[in-house]
Amino acid sequence: MGSGIAQLAIVAGFDVWLHDSDSDALRRASEGIAEAIRRLVSKNKISQLAGTDALNRLTCTLNLEDLQHADFIIEAIIESEDVKKKLFCDLDKLAKPSAILASNTSSISITRLASSTNRPSQVIGMHFMNPPPVMKLIEIVRGADTSEEVFSKTKALAERFGKIVICSEDYPGFIVNRILMPMINEAFYTLYTGVATKEDIDTGMKLGTNHPMGPLELADFIGLDICLSIMKVLHQGLGDSKYIPCPLLVQYVDAGRLGRKRGIGVYSYK
Ligand code: CAA
Repeated sequence: MGSGIAQLAIVAGFDVWLHDSDSDALRRASEGIAEAIRRLVSKNKISQLAGTDALNRLTCTLNLEDLQHADFIIEAIIESEDVKKKLFCDLDKLAKPSAILASNTSSISITRLASSTNRPSQVIGMHFMNPPPVMKLIEIVRGADTSEEVFSKTKALAERFGKIVICSEDYPGFIVNRILMPMINEAFYTLYTGVATKEDIDTGMKLGTNHPMGPLELADFIGLDICLSIMKVLHQGLGDSKYIPCPLLVQYVDAGRLGRKRGIGVYSYK
């Protein structure tokens, strides 16, 4: 997600410092962005010059301190509240006072992330859909203290990226995952209880409701660990038994079948 967001930002004309603590991840991100820009040029979606300029606007760094001059920081690390809070606390200390701190979290409370900083009015959710360069939507989530000015600036930035914005209050799963994840979880229950094969479940939803991917294929694409963590957030935050993660989803994650990124999830990609 981070490299896709960085790609959007450099193509939109922003100078970007892309940070990761893992040098391999940073190298893969930089190679992936260069390849994506080459494809955009070869399909005449942007000119050769625009592609070169975009790549020149990208700096990859292993040093978080390099973000100290940024006006806008978008966090896209793992979906763990504790790990995100620690990062927000560090960013709050090093970022300039006017900087906005945005999170790409898919379900964690923005209000709670903001509470780990001394600038809660400048913390906001900016939830991109996967893959960020392709999907047209950004979901913006206001925490309890997010200011109107920060909301307006974030919306303007999303629009510079060429996206359509929807706005959610800060409740578990926001809008998209509140609706999408129970559907994916139900697809797992449908498989788990032997109603149909995985192929028929996916074909049913693809051809029956015109979704580009079936729910199980989409779960593999998103990552089964991400789906499970969002179901847990929905269950804990909303308290309704309808959000209990399907045991089959839990078992796949326990087995390391995390989806496309691991070469195996509901389907095998090896
Ligand atoms: N990064 C950048 N571009 C990509 C890409 C990627 N990972 N994957 C595909 N593309 C581009 C391709 O280059 C291609 O571009 P052109 O039209 O310019 O040629 C275009 O997208 C279509 O790609 P393909 O022809 O290869 O494949 P496709 O038509 O099957 O589309 C897909 C692939 C866009 C992923 C499509 O299957 C799709 O829309 N799937 C559903 C995705 C979805 O629902 N995402 C949201 C998940 S929920 C979420 O993200 C929220 C959360 O918190 C979990």
